[in-house]
Amino acid sequence: MSNRMWGGRFAEGPDAIMEEINASIDYDRKLYRQDIAGSKAHVRMLAEGNIVSKDDADKIAEGLDAILLEIEKGEFAFSRALEDIHMNVEARLSDLIGPAAGRLHTARSRNDQVATDFRIWVRDTLDTFDEQLTDLLTALATRAEEYSGTVMPGFTHLQTAQPVTFGHHLMAYVEMFARDRSRMRDARKRMNECPLGSAALAGTSFPIDREMTAKALGFDRPTANSLDAVSDRDFVIEAVSNASIAAMHLSRLAEEIVIWCSAQFAFIRLSDKFSTGSSIMPQKKNPDAAELVRAKSGRIYGGLTGLLVMMKGLPLAYSKDMQEDKEQAFDALSSLSLALAAMTGMVRDLEANEKAMKKAAGSGYSTATDLADWLVRVVGMPFREAHHVTGRIVATAAEKGIDLHRISLADMQAVDGRITNDVYSVLSVDKSVRSRTSYGGTSPVNVRKQARRWLKALARE
Ligand code: ARG
Repeated sequence: MSNRMWGGRFAEGPDAIMEEINASIDYDRKLYRQDIAGSKAHVRMLAEGNIVSKDDADKIAEGLDAILLEIEKGEFAFSRALEDIHMNVEARLSDLIGPAAGRLHTARSRNDQVATDFRIWVRDTLDTFDEQLTDLLTALATRAEEYSGTVMPGFTHLQTAQPVTFGHHLMAYVEMFARDRSRMRDARKRMNECPLGSAALAGTSFPIDREMTAKALGFDRPTANSLDAVSDRDFVIEAVSNASIAAMHLSRLAEEIVIWCSAQFAFIRLSDKFSTGSSIMPQKKNPDAAELVRAKSGRIYGGLTGLLVMMKGLPLAYSKDMQEDKEQAFDALSSLSLALAAMTGMVRDLEANEKAMKKAAGSGYSTATDLADWLVRVVGMPFREAHHVTGRIVATAAEKGIDLHRISLADMQAVDGRITNDVYSVLSVDKSVRSRTSYGGTSPVNVRKQARRWLKALARE
């Protein structure tokens, strides 16, 4: 049987392989709600402009409502022969209401239809990310306030550098995820233009009202160029690109969680709810959720690369290549959504092992910079000289196998006679973090202030 949508030009039906490579219904059925909303807005506008009769428009709208219900109840029979969600819905409409269904596609093409459906879907997804990121920010800032005075080692090169507070470390991620959220908001603003009415590529000769459909579907305005409207996919590429950056941040935190809950670090404990056991080793508690969050970033970047490569060689306007945008975007964006939810759960539940953190913070001569700063401040040495003197004191401590605050005054004075007992006031990790009061620094007072400021702002939204 030749195709019921375009059979006029065809004598034969498609080869089975043609049908298989061509069909997108297995994944674009996800767009059913957006597709039906788009069609309803379109037909209402057609009736308003006397392009179809009020009577036909009512029948079409009622039919579309019935189809929505069928799909939501799981009673709709999707057909691969009908290729995609657009033709599945339209064919069913014609079964339900007869020839009037054929008027729905006036002044429209699947090209502007799919661009519209997909934009609505991506826009809704960006809104979901906004909420999910807000939840994650709230979880992080809540825990940061709680741990604002908890000392841990800060690292560079994964080597102990200077003591910081755990709250400060968590607040670093608040800054990152807040930027991610603002990127999602930017993208939403930029993409919120409606392609519907661009038709196949050139616009239409029917007197349509694109402002009306744009408004009905929650868009700020109609797109300004019909060629661009049907062939642009940068709205989804931007969303997946933003998702990639957020996934990179999630992956870094996930990596830290994996490290922190190893027995060698033992900085945190994950809740049972976000851990798994081993089928052979009874003692094991594995951070699988964190590992999977780390892994999801690969799939998300894969989606971004796939989309960019798929688009880069396409001449204007629509090419069927663009049908391949959906699966990749669906996978990438739903992966981010799941990763955000898992990370939020882990952060809400995790418990810090404050003793282990503090012990580690004091090892590795982490307060050496404090000692050098003391030499500058109290003795009046130039920083470079203080750096050298401190280096020699650290070498003495290393030789004796002791921490910096355990080294005797005599040993320090052997390196530089001007050192006095007062130096011990800066060598403890608590004193070290408390002294870092510069704006943005790690002192508990700063961290508490920042966490509270964020929590207040988040609660207001
Ligand atoms: N299923 C198609 C897609 O996702 C709809 C557009 C088809 N248009 C066309 N001219 N073949 O891109």
